[in-house]
Amino acid sequence: LTQQRYPVTRLPFSAVSAEDLAAFERILPGGVVTDPEVLEASNVDWLRTVRGCSKVLLRPRTSQEVARILRYCHERNLAVNPQGGNTGMVGGSVPVFDEIILSTTLMNRIISFHSVSGTLVCQAGCVLEELSQYVEERGFVMPLDLGAKGSCHIGGNVATNAGGLRFLRYGSLHGTVLGLEVVLADGTVLDCLTSLRKDNTGYDLKQLFIGSEGTLGVITAVSIQCPPKPRAVNVAFLGCPGFAEVLQTFSSGKELLGEILSAYEFMDAECMWLVTHHLHLASPVQESPFYVLVETSGSRAGHDAEKLSDFLERALSSGLVTDGTVATDQTRLKALWALRERISEALSRDGYVYKYDLSLPTERLYDLVSDLRARLGSQAKHVVGYGHLGDGNLHLNVTSEAFSPSLLADLEPYVYEWTARQRGSVSAEHGLGFKKRGVLSYSKPPEALRLMQQLKALLDPKGILNPYKTLPVQA
Ligand code: FAD
Ligand code: MLT
Ligand code: ZN
Repeated sequence: LTQQRYPVTRLPFSAVSAEDLAAFERILPGGVVTDPEVLEASNVDWLRTVRGCSKVLLRPRTSQEVARILRYCHERNLAVNPQGGNTGMVGGSVPVFDEIILSTTLMNRIISFHSVSGTLVCQAGCVLEELSQYVEERGFVMPLDLGAKGSCHIGGNVATNAGGLRFLRYGSLHGTVLGLEVVLADGTVLDCLTSLRKDNTGYDLKQLFIGSEGTLGVITAVSIQCPPKPRAVNVAFLGCPGFAEVLQTFSSGKELLGEILSAYEFMDAECMWLVTHHLHLASPVQESPFYVLVETSGSRAGHDAEKLSDFLERALSSGLVTDGTVATDQTRLKALWALRERISEALSRDGYVYKYDLSLPTERLYDLVSDLRARLGSQAKHVVGYGHLGDGNLHLNVTSEAFSPSLLADLEPYVYEWTARQRGSVSAEHGLGFKKRGVLSYSKPPEALRLMQQLKALLDPKGILNPYKTLPVQA
């Protein structure tokens, strides 16, 4: 078996036998799925660009069941692909060949919530949006939010170290995750599910699993710090005449909005074209080369409104912004956010999508987009730039009618070399998965790659957990 578009050969894992299925059925009565129709959805990723051919999907409910499955698979040398909501962007969530899919779908129990500390402890398969609703009813918010909230699981978020739309305010999951329970490749349950804010008792082992994309262990439960729900939220959606003005508006926002600035996202005119044409969303502002979404979150509506109007007045009068609209009620807030959150959905309706998720020096963030537009000319349908500008994170996406090897050859390694020259990252927040593992060396030195391989060998000596993913291909 060899994968076509990305050449890779199946490693010598065992194939699932009838006895294996019977053993799984004993561990998980009713939780073993072999129906090809159900498997079809779990074998293909959200972007529909990678596809595996797994014949079995397992749905455990408890950590003990996960432990028993992994112990068995370890003994039998069976490869396992952990899967959450299957919304990952780098092909890490689906098998490459016939790996067993281990889904967290039924592990969706909230274990505890403490209303003084705001600490939520839950199983890994809880859907992010459902957790948001749960904590919001109690006066808190989740420290992360992303367009995939309706499907992604908290375990998947932690496994990919997802960034998203609240990163600017609440920072990385490396800070907000307080504890994890993880089942290791051999079935050992590692209980680091504490809820302590401070704990310097040696190496912080949970950090290893945050962003490990299912290659070092299966995350079964998460303890996470939830901040209080802001009482006042405003969203301003603004049109900017150029990228220089997008940057200056950001500087001005940091200065004038200060502690209430909670998101600063940008998108270019082509993104607006995509969401208005493919999703029929209406643009709330005049046509502009760039748009920014500025969110404020604070504790007093009057104070925030005063600051925001001062910021907007100055931005308009100085020409940084040419048009804008502000929302405070839930419905309009959501409508403005949708213009930004649904860009990836609009892109996938445009054709084949070449996706790049880069960390770059903020001042140079858009140069690569303009550069590529000129380089690719009419080969590409669209070349778009959007993303988490406040975090220095560009989403550069190119679409074409169908997959084109010559277009790919013009994109890669060009994009990666460009990024490496800026000392940027070839994956800011989506991870490496299957698609990006080959380009890791543009952002990490050989010594770091070697240590990653050593850690993998220590934690998963047989390499059964998410093979062909994240780690560079061994020489
Ligand atoms: P999956 O896609 O199922 O899996 C992702 C990876 O994690 C795989 O390698 C899988 O093996 C592993 N994994 C899953 N669960 C576990 C577990 N319990 N234990 C161990 N490994 C596990 N990402 C961002 O960072 N920021 C964004 O703003 C953002 N927006 C998005 C918007 C849309 C519309 C979509 C479709 C995706 C977006 N993403 C974003 C991508 C992001 O990686 C995922 O949405 C999310 O974090 C993955 O969660 P999931 O449950 O779907 O995981
Ligand atoms: C986003 O910020 O919209 C996500 O990371 C998804 C994407 O890049 O398409
Ligand atoms: Zn993003």
